[in-house]
Amino acid sequence: MRTALVAGNWKMNGNSASINTLMEGLNAELKSNAVDVLVCPPSIYLSQVQALTADSVIALGAQNVSEQNNGAFTGEISLEMLQDLSCEYVILGHSERRSLYAESDELVADKFKATVAVGLKPILCVGETLEEREEGNTLAVVERQIKAVVNAAGIEQFKDAVIAYEPVWAIGTGKTATPEQAQEVHAAIRNMIAECDAELASKMRILYGGSVNAANAAELFANEDVDGGLVGGASLKANDFIAICQAAGA
Ligand code: PGA
Repeated sequence: MRTALVAGNWKMNGNSASINTLMEGLNAELKSNAVDVLVCPPSIYLSQVQALTADSVIALGAQNVSEQNNGAFTGEISLEMLQDLSCEYVILGHSERRSLYAESDELVADKFKATVAVGLKPILCVGETLEEREEGNTLAVVERQIKAVVNAAGIEQFKDAVIAYEPVWAIGTGKTATPEQAQEVHAAIRNMIAECDAELASKMRILYGGSVNAANAAELFANEDVDGGLVGGASLKANDFIAICQAAGA
């Protein structure tokens, strides 16, 4: 019922030449509409990747956006600019934005509202640190992060939104959550949304992120409430990313 989504978060990696090579590899293999495939390049390369995805099934997204419309915000990128370059999705509240750039739940909620207002689709990232997990606070942390946005934006604004569960301890560490750990949190997230709107919850895609690779993707995606992945490191290698998309059914 839910079409899987596999999103590549390239983070601050690559250059014009490596991006041409990567996209050539992806475009050659990924042709099916059975799974939604998305790439999120560094914003300076969005224009290049827009051209490289024009005739492909691969969608384009950004890694971050400003909550402001336009004006004197040096270094920021607006939603209007992302629309201008055919972006369909924006990653919001990634743990690196939260921890390294001090993005608060409130700021993430403002970005979420602004994104939905212009018709782009937010991928809202949530997840606990190792310390929070060891203290037994995983679900409380994830609930706080989600409720901050639901309360500010309203549940109806989640209609086209995607939630990505990314345990901070699994991001870029090679330590993946077990399929059971992922399913437990994904089911809890779906229940949190269902408390507000059961139908919306049943349709909403919840992605797992954190050291997804070609070898572990299939067993993660096999879980009932795991609707695809948000992939960092492995999305930079065409063959690995293709294998992950295929594990989701591409
Ligand atoms: P990773 O990153 O796959 O390299 O762990 C995932 C993410 O940060 O979205």
